[in-house]
Amino acid sequence: MCGIVGYHGTETASPLLATGLQNLEYRGYDSAGIALVDSDLTVYKRSGEVESLLEVLPESSTQQRGIGHTRWSTHGPPTDENAHPHTDEDGRVAVVHNGIIENYEALRAELSDHTFTSDTDTEVVPHLIEEELESGATPREAVEAAVARLEGTFALVIAIAGVEELFAIRQDSPLVIGHGETGTFLGSDVTAFLEHTREVTYLDDGELAVISGAGVELYRDGESVEVTTEQLTWEADAAEKGGYEHYMRKEIHEQPRALRQTLSGRYDLDSGTVDVEIDLPREYLRSIEEIQIVACGTSNYAGRYAAELFESLADVRTTVEIASEYEFSGGRDPWRTLVVAVTQSGETADTLSAIRKAIRAGARTLAVTNTLGSTVTREVDDSVFIRAGPEIGVAATKTFASQVATLALLAVYVGRERGALSSNRARSVLQSLRSLPGAVQQVLDREDAVHEVATAYADSEAFFFIGRKYGRPVALEGALKLKEISYDHAEGFAAGELKHGPLALVTAETPVLAVLTDGSAATETLNNVKEVQARSAPVIGAVSGDVGESYLDVTWEVPDIGMFEPLVTNVYWQLFAYHVADEKGRSIDKPRNLAKSVTVE
Ligand code: M6R
Repeated sequence: MCGIVGYHGTETASPLLATGLQNLEYRGYDSAGIALVDSDLTVYKRSGEVESLLEVLPESSTQQRGIGHTRWSTHGPPTDENAHPHTDEDGRVAVVHNGIIENYEALRAELSDHTFTSDTDTEVVPHLIEEELESGATPREAVEAAVARLEGTFALVIAIAGVEELFAIRQDSPLVIGHGETGTFLGSDVTAFLEHTREVTYLDDGELAVISGAGVELYRDGESVEVTTEQLTWEADAAEKGGYEHYMRKEIHEQPRALRQTLSGRYDLDSGTVDVEIDLPREYLRSIEEIQIVACGTSNYAGRYAAELFESLADVRTTVEIASEYEFSGGRDPWRTLVVAVTQSGETADTLSAIRKAIRAGARTLAVTNTLGSTVTREVDDSVFIRAGPEIGVAATKTFASQVATLALLAVYVGRERGALSSNRARSVLQSLRSLPGAVQQVLDREDAVHEVATAYADSEAFFFIGRKYGRPVALEGALKLKEISYDHAEGFAAGELKHGPLALVTAETPVLAVLTDGSAATETLNNVKEVQARSAPVIGAVSGDVGESYLDVTWEVPDIGMFEPLVTNVYWQLFAYHVADEKGRSIDKPRNLAKSVTVE
C-alpha cells in the first residue's frame, strides 16, 4: 500500500520526512512527495524513487511541519503530477492519502468550476476543503465537512498554509501517531518514525487528530475524545512486517483489506452492474468469440478460476494457457479473440512474450495486474488493476485473492455487456463477492487450529490437494504454495483424476487436502475422499454445509458464501503451507531458487 509520513515539532521537518519516506520504501511504491508548510506551502514530488525526490528537495529549509507520501498507483499512472501531496487551486491545502475514494468522479463533477491537475481520486479532497474554507469554515470544520462527503477507504493527512495544525483522519486504512521528544510524528505504520519514538496512538476509524505545537487532540463526530497511548516493543524489522515474523504471513492477513480495496466502488448490488474502468466497447465485447488467458504460476491458477467464471457468467469460450507455452493459433479470427494477461507484477517475461504474440497476431489485449505503469500495461489495449497493494513475499498470497476477485468482476461486466447475465444472477454473484472479505477474516481467525494441524503433519512424505470445478485451481495453488516455501513434495489434482494414476502415490504418509465447498462439486469429490481414505491417507477437508465430515480426519469450516467458497478455502491452504514451512525453519519470504518477479524467459 502507499505510505504516509508527517511531522509537527521543533526540528526542521524536511530531513525527518525524507527519512520517514525511506523507512517506508520496503512497502513498494512508484512515486514520492513532500509538502513543507508554515505561512506558505511548498510541494516537492517526483515519480520514481525517494532518491529522485531528494534531488529536488532544498538542502536547507526552515519549516518545522510537513507531510509526505510514497504512492502505489491506483488511479492514474505513476507520474510527477499524480504523485502526492495534492493541493487545491491556490496551493494552500495539501493532502496525502492512502486508500480509495469511491465517489471521486461524482465529487469532481460537483467541483466542475475547479481545475484539476492529476488523474487521482485524492485530488478532490483539497478542493473540497478549499470550498469549505472559502465559505467561512474554520480549518477543522473544513476538514470535517470535506471528509463527511467522502465514500471509500482512506487515511488522510492534511496541511494548510498559515494554519498551525496538521489534520489526520482515517476510515479503514491505518494511521498512527508517534509522540516524540521534539514533536509529533505521523505514519501509515510505525516504521515511518520508529527511530524517534515508540510511544504511539493508533487512530480508530472516524477519529480526527488535530496536531499542533501543544500536542495532539482527538475528535469523533465533532466531540473531543481522550488520547490514549501505548509503548511499542517491536524492532524496526518486525515493525516493517507489522509485527509478523514474515511478510508472507502479514500478506495472508492483509487479504480482507486487499479484497475490500479490489472491490471498492466497482459494483452496484441493487442494479447488479459492475464498472472495472475499461474502455473496450460493448459492440466489441458482444462480438468476442473466445477469451484466451495467458499467465504463469499462481496467476495462471487465478486465470483458471476465472475461465470457469467467464464461461458460466459471460457465455464465452475461455482457454487458459501457460504463458511460456502460448502460440496464437492462426485459425481463429484474431479480432474476435480477447487475450487477457494475468500478472501481478506486470513484468513476467513469459507473460509479456505471450501477449506480444497476441498483439502481433492482431488480437485485442487486456492486462489484469497489480502494478500500474508496469511493462504489460504499456503494451496492451487496456488494463484492470487488482489493487492488492505491494506484495513483498515471493509467494503470491493476497494477489491471488485479488486477481480472482477482479477477474470475477470482469466476468460479470462482460456477461452484462454481452446480455448473457441477468441482473438477478449478477446480484447473487456480487453478493458472494461482497461476503468474501468477512469470510476470509473468519478463516484467519482460526489460524491457531491450522497451525496445530500443520505441526502434526509437517513431516509427511508428500501432500496432495484435490478439488473440482472452482476447487481445482485452488488445489493446484495450494500445492504450489506448499512446495515453494516448504520444499516438500506437493501436487494438486483434479479430484476425479486420482483414480487414473496418482492414487498409486497415496499412503498413510501422504495427507490429502480436499476442497469440499459450494462451487467445487463437493459430493463427487467426497467419493475421491473415500478412495484415499480406504488407502489410509489422512484427509483434511475444507467444508461448507453438511459434506460427510465422518470421512475427514480434520474438518475446517468454510463460511457459507456461495460460489467463492473455494477462494476462501485457499486461505486455509496458505496458512497450512506457511506453518509447515515455518515448522521446518524455511526461508519463507525468499524461498531458494525463486524470485518475486521472473524477468527471464
Ligand atoms: O508477477 P506474475 O503474476 O506474472 O508472476 C507469475 C508467477 O511467477 C508467480 O505467480 C509465482 O508463481 C508466485 N510468486 C508463486 O507464489
